[in-house]
Amino acid sequence: MDLEAYLYNRSALVDQALDRWLPAEGLLPLSLHQAMRYSVFAGGKRLRPILMIAASEAVGGTAQQVMHAACALEMIHTYSLVHDDLPAMDDDDFRRGRPTNHKVYGEATAVLAGDALLTEAFRLLADAEANLLVPPATVLRVIELVARYAGSQGMVGGQVVDMESEGKEIDFPTLEYIHTHKTGGLILASVQVGAMLGGADEGQLAALSRFGGAAGLAFQIADDILDVVGDQAELGKAVGSDQARGKATYPALLGIAEARQRANELCDIAVGSLAPLGASAEILQLLARYIIDRSS
Ligand code: IPE
Ligand code: IPE
Ligand code: MG
Ligand code: MG
Ligand code: MG
Repeated sequence: MDLEAYLYNRSALVDQALDRWLPAEGLLPLSLHQAMRYSVFAGGKRLRPILMIAASEAVGGTAQQVMHAACALEMIHTYSLVHDDLPAMDDDDFRRGRPTNHKVYGEATAVLAGDALLTEAFRLLADAEANLLVPPATVLRVIELVARYAGSQGMVGGQVVDMESEGKEIDFPTLEYIHTHKTGGLILASVQVGAMLGGADEGQLAALSRFGGAAGLAFQIADDILDVVGDQAELGKAVGSDQARGKATYPALLGIAEARQRANELCDIAVGSLAPLGASAEILQLLARYIIDRSS
């Protein structure tokens, strides 16, 4: 299967599952559930769920085995975007090709919709029916892992240092801390959870962890580059907003050419890490390239 067909097919499966598991739009409180669905179904790439599915498939598992966790990761990611766009943070007006959540529903509802998406994600990770065939120890391991990568020593921590670094000259280790935490962690978590639920042995999990770490950092470097050279209509979000806010980014610190080179090196590391998995990791190889070559 080529990558385009794979992305199309797996993201359709994820969308169906999200629709099934998210509280219905008609449930009270209407505004909250509408706001949650507004941002989830605004048209994201579903990269984290797709990486999770691909990791599961690479170790002999299925998409179905990881679908609830894939949806949970997409809910956490979407909550992080809703909050990231708030006036108190990046103050952005467009996301996924639409006005941002707070522009439509107001700031209070946007904060609460994010809170609810995060909480629903953990409810889903713990869902008894979805985990019927998963050993309880694995369920707990997955929940702990996702909490760690999403929390104060993960994504939230990265977002704090991102905000505190606005307008400052920061050193390279701080920049790498921001990127591996605010973005890399959830991508790494997606790959690791896919491996665990897909039935990976410890060797496969280690290989996929190296892949996820490199791919996660490469993803945020590509995001920074797209903020400089990308097309707003294609991206579905504003370009140039990092420079306007004095954000710590790879292009700001290293320049575009060196940032591209770093993304390429990380992509090579990611692809190299897949060697022990052989041909079953072919889609993950293509996903690593896509992460750095994408235009949206
Ligand atoms: C954007 O993530 C925010 C970052 C973590 C850099 P994506 O580029 O995956 O956004 P969607 O999900 O496709 O909208
Ligand atoms: C956001 O990074 C990371 C999270 C939301 C956790 P950015 O602020 O660079 O993401 P975009 O560019 O707004 O999508
Ligand atoms: Mg941000
Ligand atoms: Mg932002
Ligand atoms: Mg960005």
